[in-house]
Amino acid sequence: MTTASGLRAARRRDRRVYTRSHPALFALLAVTRRRAVARLGGVVLVHDGDAYRNALTRVPLDRAAPGTTGGAVRELSVGGALFDQEGTGHRSARRAVADGLGPAGLERLRPVWREVLARRLAPLGAGRTVDLVPVARELAGATVRALLDAPGTPERIAEAAARAAAAAVRDHLPGPRRPGTARAAAVATARLEALLSSAAPDEGPALRAMLAVAAVNTTVAALPRAAAWCADAALWDQAADDRLRPSLVGELLRVTAPSPLLPRVAAADAELDGCPVRAGDRLILVARHAARAHVDPPDARRPAPPAVSRLVFGAGPHACPGARLARAQLDDVLAALAPYRPVVVRARVDRHGALPGWRSLSVRATRAPQEGR
Ligand code: HEM
Repeated sequence: MTTASGLRAARRRDRRVYTRSHPALFALLAVTRRRAVARLGGVVLVHDGDAYRNALTRVPLDRAAPGTTGGAVRELSVGGALFDQEGTGHRSARRAVADGLGPAGLERLRPVWREVLARRLAPLGAGRTVDLVPVARELAGATVRALLDAPGTPERIAEAAARAAAAAVRDHLPGPRRPGTARAAAVATARLEALLSSAAPDEGPALRAMLAVAAVNTTVAALPRAAAWCADAALWDQAADDRLRPSLVGELLRVTAPSPLLPRVAAADAELDGCPVRAGDRLILVARHAARAHVDPPDARRPAPPAVSRLVFGAGPHACPGARLARAQLDDVLAALAPYRPVVVRARVDRHGALPGWRSLSVRATRAPQEGR
């Protein structure tokens, strides 16, 4: 049964993915988070949910500015990859990915990730430990491979997507760039594009690479963190319950906020919660705080309203088109793990990844799956 001390233990462990990888940034965000919107020079930190939503839906944003997700996409490749687009071009690129990520697309993809789960979690039944990070990596790589009908192996796609994202983040950290970071990022992206190369010459390599980066890095961060929450906070009974699991999925995605910060740049003057925003200001939109991940623990019986939990997937015309896929995958991961009631036996933070997450997270079953499950 979930207890207050279990929830505290789960939160303590999960915080390590932030404090061990970006301690200074985490401390800065913690210090400023009592203010809905805080200005530090030319940087506006947005913590409050309404202000975060307004920043994504009402403030004109410079989608291709350096230091933003769209800017990184544009610098690494030829552009035209959703994050950096607007208007008609953006709408038609969204339509191009909508089919693969809609309900029918998911039914096509589901057997791919379920096969990975069945095979890679089977050792739990024999009393062995399983590291959930490589499981998530293969699951994400296999899904992207099937989604894009790509030639590379799941492992190589996942590895290349992780390298491309980590290189892009290093290249865009504030302060002077270290020599070679831009080139390393471009090389990593070119390698990923080659692994995903399409038989259809008109399909944009930049869009395909960006989809792989967006899908793999969030999935590899999210799934092991969510499993660790279930293990530490004793949420496996809820995960085993078909009626509660969908709500648990939403809550775990809310408290893990796998993509915790959205870096954007204002394209025109505006106002957020009384704080003036000037064209050119850098906006750091803190998804983790907007979704109240730092204060409200996951509660499948009394989940946060969808308007709040959905914020971890952004808002407005650029809101994540992969949200349905992410929810379906976490639902299946929890359903597959729950019968074993696993506990975490070892966890190591990934200090170099693009997103806060585990480098390895080994779990062991505490019971054999019951007959008939
Ligand atoms: C837990 C998993 C995921 C999280 C937390 C997440 C989060 C986000 C966020 C916060 C954004 C920015 C939204 C905005 O600017 O308003 C985004 C955009 C995007 N995501 Fe996800 N995402 C996840 C999984 C995925 C998956 C699995 C895919 C693809 C298969 C995907 C594809 C994309 C794409 C293409 C965009 C750009 C959309 C646009 O600019 O129009 N994401 N995601």
